[in-house]
Amino acid sequence: MGERRTSWEELQEPAPEVESSPVVGVFDSGFGGLTVLKALVRQMPGAQFAFLGDTARLPYGSKSRRTIARYAAESAQFLVNQQGAEFLVIACNTASALALDAIQEAVDVPVLGVIEPGAAAAAASSSTRDVLVIATEATVASHAYAAACRAQGLRAVEKACPLLVPLVEEGWIEHPVTAEVVGIYLSEVLEEARAAEQSPDTLVLGCTHYPLLRKVFEMTVPDGMRIIDSAEATAEEAARLVSAQVSEARSGAPGFSQAPSIRCFATDSVEKFERLGSRFLGLPVGKVELVDLGG
Ligand code: DGL
Repeated sequence: MGERRTSWEELQEPAPEVESSPVVGVFDSGFGGLTVLKALVRQMPGAQFAFLGDTARLPYGSKSRRTIARYAAESAQFLVNQQGAEFLVIACNTASALALDAIQEAVDVPVLGVIEPGAAAAAASSSTRDVLVIATEATVASHAYAAACRAQGLRAVEKACPLLVPLVEEGWIEHPVTAEVVGIYLSEVLEEARAAEQSPDTLVLGCTHYPLLRKVFEMTVPDGMRIIDSAEATAEEAARLVSAQVSEARSGAPGFSQAPSIRCFATDSVEKFERLGSRFLGLPVGKVELVDLGG
């Protein structure tokens, strides 16, 4: 699957051979998951993508497992039952950490979350085998990253950074307040690692919104510390799984048409999605469709 440049007009139009293109559903609690969609488009330039941001019910990161599981399962069902998704990528770290089982039970298609690919990328990066993971409160409380890192032979110190999602949502990407908040969180997590006698050399951005602050993190981390965002690793794994699924289901048919298409759905704040979403996707998001999944 080589790299192919695609104009935004092409992305918005249905692909000419849509019959043979798999529909990949991508879900996030908001539009931060568009960073994962961006990586998916690079990996699967000929797929059809249906992206849902559950903006009416964001943030997930401060909610209970039960609520997150219900919201995520309803969102997954929308993508599969109403948009015909044949494969689901859960771009939301919080939903991946707390609701992957509930999503798998709710739909009848393969589901890939971001935690395992993120931990695998951290394992490929770390020489000391000690890593830092920053994420939402719910993701950290689940210890899903710590478990996935352990399975990769890594020790992880996890830290909730609840102020970062609202700052990104506010568009304060290159703002002194955001830089100061990032500095405080990083010094705290580094102190926790020191207290645990760990020597982390890798920082995992365990939240859809944090890659938008990558420059701030790069300026703040200690020299030599590598920064991992799970979007690329997840997209590579998704492309591998989708290709295998498509060629099995369609007896070796090529599977992908030559041009991708993207449809974006949101449960609220369509205008804000259209305005801020382009920062996450790296392209204008075009017309976003409003959907009602209930309360
Ligand atoms: N999408 C969430 C995540 O990656 C962040 C936003 C939220 O809390 O809903 O954890």
